[in-house]
Amino acid sequence: MNTLKRTIVICLFTGYWMIPFAGFGQKTLDQKVDSVLKLMTLEEKVGQMNQYNGDWAATGPITPDGDKQDQIRKGLVGSMLNVTGVEHTTELQKIAMESRLKIPLLFGQDIIHGYRTIFPIPLGEAASWDMKAIEQSARIAATEASAAGVQWTFAPMVDIARDPRWGRVMEGAGEDPYLGSQIARARVLGFQGKGLGHTDAVMACAKHFAGYGAAIGGRDYNTVDMSLLTLWNVYLPPFKAAEEAGAATFMNSFNTLNGIPATGNSYLQRDILKGKWKFQGFVVSDWNSIGEMIPHGFARDHADAALKAISAGNDMDMESRSYIQNLPKLVREGKVSVNLVNEAVRRILKKKFELGLFDDPYKFSNAQREKSQWDNSANLMVEKSMAEKSVVLLKNEGQLLPLNREKLKGKTIALIGPLVRSIRQNLGFWSYSWPDDSLRVISTWKGIAQKVGDDIHLAYAKGCSITDTSKAGFEEAVETARKADIVIMEVGEAADMSGEAKSRSNIHLPGVQEDLIKAIYATGKPVIVLINAGRPLIFNWTSAHVPAILYTWWLGTEAGGAVADVLFGDYNPSGKLPITFPRAEGQIPIYYDHFNTGRPPKNANDLNYVSSYIDLPNSPAYPFGYGLSYTTFSYSDITLNSPILRPGGTLEASVEVTNTGKYPGKETVQLYTRQMVGSVVRPVEELKGFKQVYLTPGESRKVTFALTVNDLRFYNAHLNEVYEPGDFKIFIGTSSAQVKQADFKLEK
Ligand code: BGC
Repeated sequence: MNTLKRTIVICLFTGYWMIPFAGFGQKTLDQKVDSVLKLMTLEEKVGQMNQYNGDWAATGPITPDGDKQDQIRKGLVGSMLNVTGVEHTTELQKIAMESRLKIPLLFGQDIIHGYRTIFPIPLGEAASWDMKAIEQSARIAATEASAAGVQWTFAPMVDIARDPRWGRVMEGAGEDPYLGSQIARARVLGFQGKGLGHTDAVMACAKHFAGYGAAIGGRDYNTVDMSLLTLWNVYLPPFKAAEEAGAATFMNSFNTLNGIPATGNSYLQRDILKGKWKFQGFVVSDWNSIGEMIPHGFARDHADAALKAISAGNDMDMESRSYIQNLPKLVREGKVSVNLVNEAVRRILKKKFELGLFDDPYKFSNAQREKSQWDNSANLMVEKSMAEKSVVLLKNEGQLLPLNREKLKGKTIALIGPLVRSIRQNLGFWSYSWPDDSLRVISTWKGIAQKVGDDIHLAYAKGCSITDTSKAGFEEAVETARKADIVIMEVGEAADMSGEAKSRSNIHLPGVQEDLIKAIYATGKPVIVLINAGRPLIFNWTSAHVPAILYTWWLGTEAGGAVADVLFGDYNPSGKLPITFPRAEGQIPIYYDHFNTGRPPKNANDLNYVSSYIDLPNSPAYPFGYGLSYTTFSYSDITLNSPILRPGGTLEASVEVTNTGKYPGKETVQLYTRQMVGSVVRPVEELKGFKQVYLTPGESRKVTFALTVNDLRFYNAHLNEVYEPGDFKIFIGTSSAQVKQADFKLEK
């Protein structure tokens, strides 16, 4: 045994971590990893590839337990999920330090939109189109979680979602590959901060690789069948962006993709991710997704599943026990090459080194840091601001909003609906519920009460519940509305009606809530409706009749304060929809960047053998990119610096945007293009850029976008990323459906 090796062994056995790795000063990371790898038995190696759920919370069906602590002590566990807090992580890390090689455990958790401070659901944040704010939200989530012993978040979820029946639309950035890629990048940068090794950085995990959002019928975990063109042009770009932003890990997914489960899919994991993209991190399975290859009909048993998963490039097994129970035997029988195991372990150990866990396994479990991040008021202020930016104003007829506090002095506002006083609901799915939530989370009732003080009288009636069909509370609600000067209603889904395993076939406003809106509207009082949901809902009657509608998603800990600011004009809404809102479930999947077909309708009434429904227009209830402000913006025509773009050159497209209303406000100016003819058909519109401008009343600003050929690249039939010379249209406007237009040519 050479001196270096002996030093490692001594130190591994004694726990003097600083000494061996100080001695490694001149060694590369790979050499350090190899030195550890050489000391490991086959069982210990497979142990690093094994992840169990802790006892704190379960985010999937629990598999039979065994004595986890004993297995940690034997070096048979590399990572735990759902073990939270300094106390628990320290406890388990201590057990890992009793193992022969003292390799530290990794603690992973779903920090999807905050840890202690809960931010708006990711789909809500996406509506802000504000990359700095989204990055900051992830940064705060990472700071709080890493102070509680978590080193790894299973986020961002970057699945493109074109089907609002799928409950997990709430967890991502919506339907668009470009916006989704920008947000994927912002979230990875936010989570990983200044880089792994800093105590406030957690490893990001881009998930679910890949295609999960296209589950047939919007039913969670369902089969996915899509062309490779769609995979490459629509579903992969946000993953590529996450990889390029340095995401330390990837998670594969439950679904099959064109007949092969993603978890056992070497085209996805080996060819694309680790091959073409040269991803250096590791891939974790989804919860039991290795075991689920058995019911999929892709693996005979757990041994077969383990073989198929590792061969396909899955490095770590979350909760299926297929690896730990079968891989050593498979290697000994010569069915799995030990090189595959070594490669996976190398990837995992490398991240443990990068995090600094070999230097100090307790680095992230620091009681003082945990305390300092527990109730951080600065974080709450950022949350409130993020919540305000996430709200989307869908309608504001007759400028009913913002409410004027002066004019309402001495008057009565009726707050009606099942969500007005809700507390926990505001946190949405994928959030942690703490015992003191009822004190911390601001309901709409509380937010408005704090804002108006004694100046305005508030009255309340629940009216109905979210899902049941009783109208027993209508009378009281109508009475309350009659006595008031203005009514604010808050309706929607319950927080747990969207999220994992929360697909819905009917996405109308649940229960009798729209009937309640009708009853209140019939009083003749001015009505404002706030809609909480984790997905686009359908509420056509409300859209047609109620003068003011705000889409408020799930806004997090400070929800009510943010809503009050928006209602009373202390924040002028600026959110834009990151996903199309359908008129009916029958239109789904509906998305703005569709192809034209050979028979596009000439107008909404055209039914003459064209691609349309005879009972519904093709257009959505609200288009992608849509969102109003209390002020109005006008757009000049587009000016181009040249009608021709050549490779190496830049096309500058400008518009003059003017605030034509009464309030200062922020507008998200959106740029779309269309390639008129291609070697494969191209979408009618594709988002290629956006800029946010803040304008005071009367103020104008020239907004210029610079396009190069790189912005016009796409994957062709051979899956090569190309640009193709020809005619293009460029669109700039306030949403995907309201734009100015110009033409240019891309020359060779
Ligand atoms: C989900 C993942 C999640 C994992 C761990 C699974 O059921 O699909 O997104 O990270 O559970 O909680």
